[in-house]
Amino acid sequence: MAPIPISPVKVGHIDDVQELRKTKPTIIPERFVRDKTERPTTVATAIPSSSDIPTINFSKLSSGNTDELRTEISHLTTACKDWGFFQVVSHGIDLSLLESIEKVAQDFFMLPLAEKQKYPMAPGTVQGYGQAFVLSEDQKLDWCNMFALGVEPKFIRNPILWPTKPEKFSETVEVYSKEVRKLCQNLLKYIAMSLGLQGDIFEKMFGEAVQAIRMNYYPPCSRPDLVLGLSPHSDGSALTVLQQGKDNSVGLQILKDDRWVPVQPIPNALVINIGDTIEVLTNGIYKSVEHRAVTHKVKDRLSIVTFYAPSYEVELGPVQELLDENTPCKYRRYNHGEYSKHYVTNKLQGKKTLEFAKIQSRSSNQEEPM
Ligand code: OGA
Ligand code: NI
Repeated sequence: MAPIPISPVKVGHIDDVQELRKTKPTIIPERFVRDKTERPTTVATAIPSSSDIPTINFSKLSSGNTDELRTEISHLTTACKDWGFFQVVSHGIDLSLLESIEKVAQDFFMLPLAEKQKYPMAPGTVQGYGQAFVLSEDQKLDWCNMFALGVEPKFIRNPILWPTKPEKFSETVEVYSKEVRKLCQNLLKYIAMSLGLQGDIFEKMFGEAVQAIRMNYYPPCSRPDLVLGLSPHSDGSALTVLQQGKDNSVGLQILKDDRWVPVQPIPNALVINIGDTIEVLTNGIYKSVEHRAVTHKVKDRLSIVTFYAPSYEVELGPVQELLDENTPCKYRRYNHGEYSKHYVTNKLQGKKTLEFAKIQSRSSNQEEPM
């Protein structure tokens, strides 16, 4: 997500799902009802737990013990290659801080609508309270309320969108974001090592990294079979860090081998996923993975998501060390700010946005006019 100002777009009426749930608990307006092919099915939840996404023990990466490091790096390689998603345990972030951010996020969403609407997300933009990625009047809507802020570098902040209520909100976002930033920097170091690259390659390339936070609140829905909490998408970031609310329903699903696999929450773990930027930099060795959120009939769900990405100024492309005569370059070089702009001005639609960076293969070029 990028806070690049863009021209106003017409999005039609967007119901606030929490208010809908309060006032008309059994009504699902047409704009939320998905086409048959997009609806959640029950198949995904029937997958055995052996297909749970991998767990990485961060303390084994950072302990200084070389054997432990080697073993955990090899787990990380598998996690990134085969899944693009993993849960990090022993990540070193204070549990009290995880609890505090969850509390302020939850308290924010429980405020009266008028209070939340003091920080409106303008149509076509991605910061503030509302629904992001709604770009037309006929687009289907997600069963979700969002509150998002650009955090780093400071110039992407929009101070009028930083809430004064709940009291500790802004301060907690600030402290939490610093800790998550360090975790992202460390994970990128280990991800580079897992590819046989210099540990600091990404950090050097990224410049002053862009960091944003988005809180997603999914109220219960009387017809979870008809709606989606969040449309299928890959993240435009390099890395995404997702914290799930304690005791929430299971809602995040990832697309693996053409099936939707639910991410079973592990208490106090953070869910990490590879974003489009790492897919490009690794020339597709590590891929961003399509994911979505589904809703629950009686339980609500909260997620706190951090996006970590390169500075808007940098030019990116697959790193030279991962290319040779047998491994053709699959992505073009581009400016990351342009990619961010492209990402936020398109609706969430699987991995479609990444086509921006793809070099057409010979076979798919054949039908193109000369
Ligand atoms: C996101 C995202 C999933 C969730 O915000 O990009 O994928 O479970 N969220 O909220
Ligand atoms: Ni996502």
